[in-house]
Amino acid sequence: MVQKKGRIFSGMRPTGRLHLGNYLGALKSWVELQDDYECIYCVVDVHALTTLESVQDAKAIVPNTNEMVLDWLAAGIDPNKSIIFVQSHVPEVMTLHTLLSMVTPLGWLMRVPTFKEKLRQMKANDETVNYGLVGYPVLQTADIILYRGDTVPVGEDQVPHVELSREIVRRFNKIFGNTFPEPKVKLTESPSIRGLDGKTKMSKTLNNHVELALSDDETRKRIMSAVTDPQRTHRNIPGRPDICNVYSLHKIFNERKVNEIEQGCTSATLGCVDCKMDLAVNVNKHLAPFRERRTALANQPDLVQAILTDGAKRARKIAKSVIAEVRGKMGL
Ligand code: AMP
Ligand code: TRP
Repeated sequence: MVQKKGRIFSGMRPTGRLHLGNYLGALKSWVELQDDYECIYCVVDVHALTTLESVQDAKAIVPNTNEMVLDWLAAGIDPNKSIIFVQSHVPEVMTLHTLLSMVTPLGWLMRVPTFKEKLRQMKANDETVNYGLVGYPVLQTADIILYRGDTVPVGEDQVPHVELSREIVRRFNKIFGNTFPEPKVKLTESPSIRGLDGKTKMSKTLNNHVELALSDDETRKRIMSAVTDPQRTHRNIPGRPDICNVYSLHKIFNERKVNEIEQGCTSATLGCVDCKMDLAVNVNKHLAPFRERRTALANQPDLVQAILTDGAKRARKIAKSVIAEVRGKMGL
């Protein structure tokens, strides 16, 4: 067997169908890494509960998992090469989460930027913030190290979480003896994709996203709504490609023509409408094989369930041996 470079672990919350940000920031590299690493990809359903607001949110997890895993498979995640499973199907992660919480200072968690941002979004206070949300990165650390993941392919927004995982691992290893590798982040070439508003990162919650599984027509409509250079209020005013998100997407999906587009934009010979049309054509062209595969996969009703059941079995085997070692080290 060929020697693998290490073990990849990564996860996504089951938010349903994925968007271009998820794809370019993470999923695309997940697919590419499968040949060189042992890969474990996880649907983190318990993390999805950290911001639970109603029973509806909880009930959406299973259908959202199904939609998301279809996207993974259509993009090229191969269950014969990688382990694909659902976090809560391997309950050992809850044990490790609790044990790691004993070596994680509260101050480290309160300083995590994503936590501070969530608090701001939720207009939260001490009575509304769940204990589980504060511990989000501890559970994320448990995910990674329960499978001895050493490399974590994620988008840029996840870097502070993985940094914290490294600190938790260092602390654990220092107290209980060398047990876990310190996980490293692996970023893609486009680790942070901006949304259609051109301002913030692409995200479903902000509704500034383009889903991978849309039809060509829906994709075109979404892209036509994208904000370009706000100073270009008229077609004959030259645009600034360096600040335009549509241009940054051309760089990814229309590589061959970027110079022409830049030239057209800065000389005002190419208008934003035509520029966006051209982008939509190229995004659709790029996603056509993905969409075709996804439709075929979605027509096999029990496929995702079968893959996840098998994945959990394989993941649990690793998890059990790691938990046994941790219990021993901690004297339990
Ligand atoms: P999420 O849906 O936020 O759980 O993200 C799943 C994965 O996609 C994580 O690795 C994120 O870092 C990545 N991701 C999400 N949104 C973006 C974005 N706008 N640009 C780049 N990567 C992203
Ligand atoms: N926090 C990650 C996100 O929001 C999801 C996640 C949970 C994760 N556990 C993980 C990512 C372990 C990488 C490794 O996208």
